[in-house]
Amino acid sequence: MSKERRPVTLSTLRAMKARGERIACLTAYEASQARVLEEAGVDLILVGDSLGMVVQGHETTVPVTVDDVVYHTRCVARGRRRAFLLADMPFLSYTSPERALETACRLMQEGGAQGVKLEGGAGQREVVAALAGAGVPVCAHLGLQPQAVHRLGGYRVQGRGEAAARALAEEARALEAAGADLLLLECVPRALAARIAREASVPVIGIGAGPDCDGQILVLHDLLGLTERPPRFAQDFLAGRGSVREAVAAYVAAVREGRFPGPEHSFD
Ligand code: KIV
Repeated sequence: MSKERRPVTLSTLRAMKARGERIACLTAYEASQARVLEEAGVDLILVGDSLGMVVQGHETTVPVTVDDVVYHTRCVARGRRRAFLLADMPFLSYTSPERALETACRLMQEGGAQGVKLEGGAGQREVVAALAGAGVPVCAHLGLQPQAVHRLGGYRVQGRGEAAARALAEEARALEAAGADLLLLECVPRALAARIAREASVPVIGIGAGPDCDGQILVLHDLLGLTERPPRFAQDFLAGRGSVREAVAAYVAAVREGRFPGPEHSFD
């Protein structure tokens, strides 16, 4: 855990990257979850649109609305003290810079988020630049983009093979140049994620992207063993432990010490 007890800001996260101190991130959807994450010293809380699947019971994240994310962000914000609070921009809520600014405005002003996350590659450069230009902290989510599941035809590892890896690394550079403050890589081969994290000057958070990213994130419900078909990159940290508090603390310690994710959670 960062020794500082002051609120986590983008500069805190950049300083952690510079020191090689791993950033522990988790999703949360309501206030009591946020409180437990705070106690465990989580650095960044994401109100993910995964809420559509783990809270609302949908098959995908596509049905999640801006109202849904605003509501859950507001709940999480009441339990948050120190962690940086990021909220997801839902499906089709950032199809133009104007639309993205409206969505970000709602997530931050009504929800209390401190930054937003959006899915997409180099095609989102203009949107990222508009948000960054307006002072909105932006996390660009690359690799597997769950909002595009119907286009992709399933949840698959992205960036495999030389050409695909080169394209993904180029997208990461383009989004950083457009003003992204954080990058999130989902389901990409370990070597590619390591290369992107090495090249990027902003922190790179991984999920199913191997142990060499600057930080790690998991969906809270996967960590607590609540998911019916957990992804291969997840681990049930509650198994063998007595409480949710212990499970979250064990995850934070495993991330800090580089014990999670292991090879069994990573892709080649
Ligand atoms: O929606 C979400 O929870 C996410 C994580 C998988 C990073 O985007």
